[in-house]
Amino acid sequence: MEEKPVTDKLVTGADWEPLIVAFFCNWCTYTAADLAGVSRMGYDPNVRVIRVMCSGRVDPQFVLDAFAHGADGVLIGGCHPGDCHYVEGNYKTLRRYHLLRRVLADLGIEPERLRLEWIAASEGEKVAKTINEMVEQVRALGPLRLSRRFREWDAELASLEAEVKRGEEVAAHV
Ligand code: FES
Repeated sequence: MEEKPVTDKLVTGADWEPLIVAFFCNWCTYTAADLAGVSRMGYDPNVRVIRVMCSGRVDPQFVLDAFAHGADGVLIGGCHPGDCHYVEGNYKTLRRYHLLRRVLADLGIEPERLRLEWIAASEGEKVAKTINEMVEQVRALGPLRLSRRFREWDAELASLEAEVKRGEEVAAHV
């Protein structure tokens, strides 16, 4: 059975709403998001939060998978530099973040769709503000529709393969 993007409803039609997948570190940003919720600081409901034990646990593949499965933006939240519970997990995150932004740009995807923020457990207001800003930024960029782009890239590849094959056939008859 063909796997359907979980966000089908969000990515199709005129009623498109941006979908943001957020990977939040358990020790800081996730707690801050919890605090924001408990303190009734409103943040946009278009975000789906995934708790990880450290921002360094966010494999670049997680980010690419989120985009491939319908996310329009990905937000990573981690402890401030020097505060990571695993010493240098967030430094790894920072390096991966810059690498990923370059990869996204090479794929023709706006790097602004990926954001990294250091947000401590006490910064409920900052997490709410960051989520709201990101939703608005991605709304301005429009839908990503990466699954559609995959189909276009597959079609391009198929046509290139056919062209190469035709060239080989012509060469074989010369
Ligand atoms: S424990 Fe929070 S970023 Fe590493």
